Amino acid sequence: MPIEKVGVVGCGLMGSGIAQVAAQGGYPVVVREVSEQLVEKGLKSIEKNLGRLVEKGTMSAPDRDQVRGRLRGTTNLDDLKGCDLIVEAIIEQLPAKRELWSALDKLCPKSTIFASNTSSLSITEMATFTQRPDRFLGLHFFNPVPVMKLVEVIRTIATDPKVYDDALAFGAKLGKTPVRTTDRTGFIVNRLLVPYILDAVRALEEGVGSIEDIDNSMKLGCGHPMGPLTLLDFVGLDTTYYIANIMFDEFKEKRFAPPPLLKRMVLAGWHGRKTGRGFYDYTDPAKPMPMRLS
Ligand code: 3HC
Repeated sequence: MPIEKVGVVGCGLMGSGIAQVAAQGGYPVVVREVSEQLVEKGLKSIEKNLGRLVEKGTMSAPDRDQVRGRLRGTTNLDDLKGCDLIVEAIIEQLPAKRELWSALDKLCPKSTIFASNTSSLSITEMATFTQRPDRFLGLHFFNPVPVMKLVEVIRTIATDPKVYDDALAFGAKLGKTPVRTTDRTGFIVNRLLVPYILDAVRALEEGVGSIEDIDNSMKLGCGHPMGPLTLLDFVGLDTTYYIANIMFDEFKEKRFAPPPLLKRMVLAGWHGRKTGRGFYDYTDPAKPMPMRLS
């Protein structure tokens, strides 16, 4: 059965981005949040992004209106009943995902494909919360979703190959380059990225360089769009700490162990850009200033 209608659960940073690119890809999209305020906030951020595309001349105003017209927000899970694919982008906590997936499993026809945008939790474990492990996979997008060209498509040992192909085709229809990977914590990108950014924190702890010098080294020496500490602030120190702990738990390898400085900063509530403080102070978001951390 072809994918004609898409559901997205969660309209935060990732969910709103996924809903936006799915609507841009031509799909009618129902996006669900737990409160009216969160629905409104998510849709407003999509409208702002689409508005920016019109201002830049990348999208015409009538196209923007059509994309917006394909998006519907809801707080009611029942409204996802008619979707052929549901992408989940809620909080990275297994009990919350368990509750959601088992409710959706009861609600949706057997044909509906379920996909999680998790960055580190086990897709196989999530599939066990449903009666459809053959129609369950991972679709891992990257922040900011409308800009980053990649989607990791994750199969488990139980994913039906036909369903997997449908998910790859869906990723391509969204204008992304889908890469194939299997259900091993971190998949491809975080497997490589997490040890790299943790090592940047270790380099800072060991006095190898200052915050700015570490960032400039990777930006100017290797052509990365952001230095690793800026990237950590962008992704969120709390999110990275959480992912690193899951990866360490899975592989028991030192390279995935969160360094003490990262833990202290998370405990202090310095979660990066979203809390105004991380490795940089974002009091003036246009001019982040490196923090004094010792
Ligand atoms: N939403 C939509 N569009 C955005 C955006 C956002 N949040 N932020 C920036 N953009 C757009 C801008 O409008 C601009 O578009 P244009 O080229 O058509 O004019 C373009 O992106 C470039 O933006 P800026 O000129 O403002 O700024 P930069 O050139 O510094 O680019 C960036 C910003 C795209 C975020 C770039 O710095 C970058 O690529 N950084 C690395 C991001 C990254 O590594 N993401 C992956 C994180 S890991 C992850 O998500 C996995 C998870 O599991 C942890």
